[in-house]
Amino acid sequence: MFEHIVEAPPDPILGTALAYKADTNPNKVNLGVGAYRTEEGATYVFPVVAKVDKELAAQTLDKEYLPIDGLPGLKKVTQKLLFGECAAYRGDRICSIQALSGTGALRVGAEFMNRHLPQDWGRTVYLSDPTWGNHKQIFLAAGFAVKTYPYWDQARRCVDMDAMLHTLKFAPKHSIIVLHGCAHNPTGLDPTKDEWQQIVQVIKDNNLIPFIDTAYQGYASGDLDEDAYSLRLFESSGLEFFVAQSFAKNFGLYGERVGMFHIVASSAERAKVVLSQVKPVVRAMYSNPPVHGGRIVERILSDPTLFAEWQQQLKDVAARIHRVRSDLRGGLEAKGTPGSWEHITRQIGMFSYTGLSVAQSERMIDQWHIYMLKNGRISLAGLNHKNIPYVVGAIDDCVRN
Ligand code: LMR
Repeated sequence: MFEHIVEAPPDPILGTALAYKADTNPNKVNLGVGAYRTEEGATYVFPVVAKVDKELAAQTLDKEYLPIDGLPGLKKVTQKLLFGECAAYRGDRICSIQALSGTGALRVGAEFMNRHLPQDWGRTVYLSDPTWGNHKQIFLAAGFAVKTYPYWDQARRCVDMDAMLHTLKFAPKHSIIVLHGCAHNPTGLDPTKDEWQQIVQVIKDNNLIPFIDTAYQGYASGDLDEDAYSLRLFESSGLEFFVAQSFAKNFGLYGERVGMFHIVASSAERAKVVLSQVKPVVRAMYSNPPVHGGRIVERILSDPTLFAEWQQQLKDVAARIHRVRSDLRGGLEAKGTPGSWEHITRQIGMFSYTGLSVAQSERMIDQWHIYMLKNGRISLAGLNHKNIPYVVGAIDDCVRN
């Protein structure tokens, strides 16, 4: 039965964690998966999350099934975090379900769109070039054709906004446009506020369907409201749209698989009907979401004191990432490594798209035991004062040779 099956390659992102673990070289560095590490290189649990975890454990809560759409109390608090108390929030126009982090929200969204968008709407999804490695397979799995819009300008190491807007202007109407809400993964470069306005306008003019993936609220600028700018702009534009919201990074709840899938609809009545049709999608895929991570997020977002603690801790991790950006750039410049490294501090969020080629990235992995993505992306969370000189030396060697 299985003879014809060919072994698949490891996942390009999650596979780096396994390869790092298996490597016995004492100098190895893990810059692959986007998961926060402390200055000492340790995995990190937000203190406020650890505190709520203990509090929940002491209560010995039941482990009953959740409703298909998750914890009821999670809806309004996660909407408020992302959208603010906007018209859609106040008017109950946002249909929300708890999802298996960002990936789960995207997958449920794709499946819902496949079932319920009109048949003659083409089923084409546009992703940024480049984008997070999992986007393509999520939409392919749901039966969509996947195309790209230009995003990264390799020569200038910035966003190619003219080319992006041009592609969106001429994309067939009703195409789905996947956008990164903030801290674009992998490039770390976001449109400016003015450019976001142009993006919203072209999407509106051309009848496109936005699907916003937001996994780094609070990580980009350290300010939750600032990082929600694009989302709030879409909301105020009057468009209907989809959002995948992850709590993997900004709560450090990677393995708890907690996030939300939101659909902003034109009326409360439409949001209610849409929700009724998202539920059967979820029921057939995984029935209902896990309870623990959702309880942690709900508790923190509902309690002003815990919320303030979380906000401060999030600011602290964003500040450390900011520092290592400067240190990495400074190290390369001090060494006189050929090329410009200014883009490292212009980029934001957890990653730097270094501009290293596939061959150079492979050399970083094979010869220097520095695990990163082959497209040149490094997770800055894995850098610290101890390993930065080693990483700088490795980049210098790979660029020169
Ligand atoms: C990443 O991009 O490293 C993270 O989002 C982890 C993942 O699931 O790929």
